[in-house]
Amino acid sequence: MSRPKSSRYVCQACGYTSPRWLGRCPNCQGWNTLVEERASSAPGGRGRPGEAEAIEPVWLDDVSETGSPRLGTGLGELDRVLGGGLVPGSFVLIGGDPGIGKSTLLLQAAATLARTKPPVLYVSAEESAAQIKLRATRLGVPGQGLGVLAATQLEAVEAAIRKLKPAVAVVDSIQTLWSEGLGGAPGSVGQVRECAAHLTRIAKTDGIVLLVVCHVTKDGLLAGPRTLEHLADCVLEFEGDRHHFYRILRAVKNRYGSTSEIGVFEMTGAGLKEVAELGDLFLPNEGSPLAGRAVAACMEGTRPLLVEIQALVASAAYGMPQRRASGVDANRLAILLAVLEKRMGYRLAANDVFLNVAGGLLVDEPAADLAAAMAVVSAFKDRPLARAALVGEVGLSGEIRPVIHLERRLEEAARLGFKRAVIPQANRDALSAGTPLGLEIEGAADLSQAVERAFA
Ligand code: TYD
Ligand code: MG
Repeated sequence: MSRPKSSRYVCQACGYTSPRWLGRCPNCQGWNTLVEERASSAPGGRGRPGEAEAIEPVWLDDVSETGSPRLGTGLGELDRVLGGGLVPGSFVLIGGDPGIGKSTLLLQAAATLARTKPPVLYVSAEESAAQIKLRATRLGVPGQGLGVLAATQLEAVEAAIRKLKPAVAVVDSIQTLWSEGLGGAPGSVGQVRECAAHLTRIAKTDGIVLLVVCHVTKDGLLAGPRTLEHLADCVLEFEGDRHHFYRILRAVKNRYGSTSEIGVFEMTGAGLKEVAELGDLFLPNEGSPLAGRAVAACMEGTRPLLVEIQALVASAAYGMPQRRASGVDANRLAILLAVLEKRMGYRLAANDVFLNVAGGLLVDEPAADLAAAMAVVSAFKDRPLARAALVGEVGLSGEIRPVIHLERRLEEAARLGFKRAVIPQANRDALSAGTPLGLEIEGAADLSQAVERAFA
């Protein structure tokens, strides 16, 4: 690709500008921080000529709300995560591992939107129109009102959007798009940033909803520059193990709604099916008493969710004991193990400890501490816990600290047929007299009380 003369290279860390690319920034000494930038056409200003910006502020009270209602995608779980549907003119990024179902999700949403708000444009820079057709047939979605464009060039995509004037456009994916005015391969930091900035402008000026797929790095972060997340109105993450049937969609950023909601889908032979009723989805071993398993009453956004946490404790045969956590923060596990060792006297230091959350779910709530700790204790003692829903945060001195949304958690446990719950003593004291919901609710002030109640 030929480089236009007007390019310059700007360090993403310190802002140093260089006329040519350098592997290391001479100013801040950062490696690989220089990214190509198109120099602005108007000297001294960044705007386009003739596009003077308003300088007169308006009173917030005088600003009229844009009356356009949100667009429903036909997928209730997706709408929920978005905060009640798509806001016109918004730029939504969707990230996730390869094969998790991003293209499937967007094709299903696009097909519904194409019926309710035609036309919809589906730009695929990864697949051919025939491949998309094949997928649509497999999903059983109609193609009516849905335009498909297999293109990788940003300018071609823009021209197609201007021509078709869709209400919603899907771009799959931003990493495979490239702009001709800029050097660098598709997917390079400069290219991704330029394409994203350009697409955002289209979304804002034409009031088009842009749903853009973004690849993730091997650590699960969105690939490309950090500015990508700043540009987007919503950043959604599609997660869940590829080998599990359940896929979880969550908002990491949402300018138009909360980020605490999750959407749950099931990958079936005919595409993604919504799972509105979570129920005992994440309790795979219900009914069989096994050592090393505990049930945590968690909250996912506004929804209570009962999750099984599994632990395995084995003597460390080879030198350094291992501590591995999947679905739970590894630092959290380290703290819990240290507290169990120090306050309860369990000799865990000589053991390997593995912790896992069933169903590929990610639990990042401190309220799941108690269940995680009890799973470890149960595995350590090789004795199954009594069937109960556990909830509570474990403090560094082994105290069980209160949690929020206690009633909701208990209601869900009762609904799933639990007869007992072990909760923080402070929450127990605050509960109104008489145990509602037909649950036997026991309080625990510290770890030793919790162990006593959990095995009872
Ligand atoms: P895809 O949407 O292509 O993933 P992504 O765009 O995130 O890379 O989905 C890929 C996986 O989903 C693939 O492994 C096959 C599976 N799948 C089904 O199980 N059922 C279906 O109906 C479809 C379309 C895909
Ligand atoms: Mg795809």
